[in-house]
Amino acid sequence: MPPAQDQAMPTPDSNIVPEKVRDGIDVVINGEPFRHTGDPAMPLLWYLRDVLRLTGTKYGGEAQAGNGADLVLVDGKPLPAIGQPMQALAGKQVTTVEGLAANDGTLHPLQQAFIDEDAIGCGHCTPGWLISGVALLARTAQPSDDDIDQLPNLCRCGAQTRVRRAIKRAAAGKAGQA
Ligand code: FES
Repeated sequence: MPPAQDQAMPTPDSNIVPEKVRDGIDVVINGEPFRHTGDPAMPLLWYLRDVLRLTGTKYGGEAQAGNGADLVLVDGKPLPAIGQPMQALAGKQVTTVEGLAANDGTLHPLQQAFIDEDAIGCGHCTPGWLISGVALLARTAQPSDDDIDQLPNLCRCGAQTRVRRAIKRAAAGKAGQA
């Protein structure tokens, strides 16, 4: 005979832990709005590379000891993407190396200057140099060698001298000129 409707059913054992639905984290990346609904502690670097497939930004080591290859602009300030949890980016504007060129594909003058000066070896460090170089030029119109040497970027291919020339070429408005 079936149990009566109001008879209490035994509660089965379960290892499932209920998890509250997460609110989204809204962030603008290279001018486009995105909503992250995954782990709020996910570092921006992995969101860029693994979720958005923006692989220009490289892993450069941990945030305080990295080589600068993972720098991005957050509200115009260069910061290591590995050290930025998504939850810290709500409402912020992020620019990666992919966002430096104009919408029609015209390179940023500093990108063009890197090409002009052949300031690229293996390319691992290049996105980070471009990000910190753009930020440097925004705060110092004519940076000195010392200003450039203070940037937190390292190049294991030995391109620093050419990077200096590229930043100075962009500062002089000579990118794309012979
Ligand atoms: S170009 Fe290779 S590390 Fe800089």
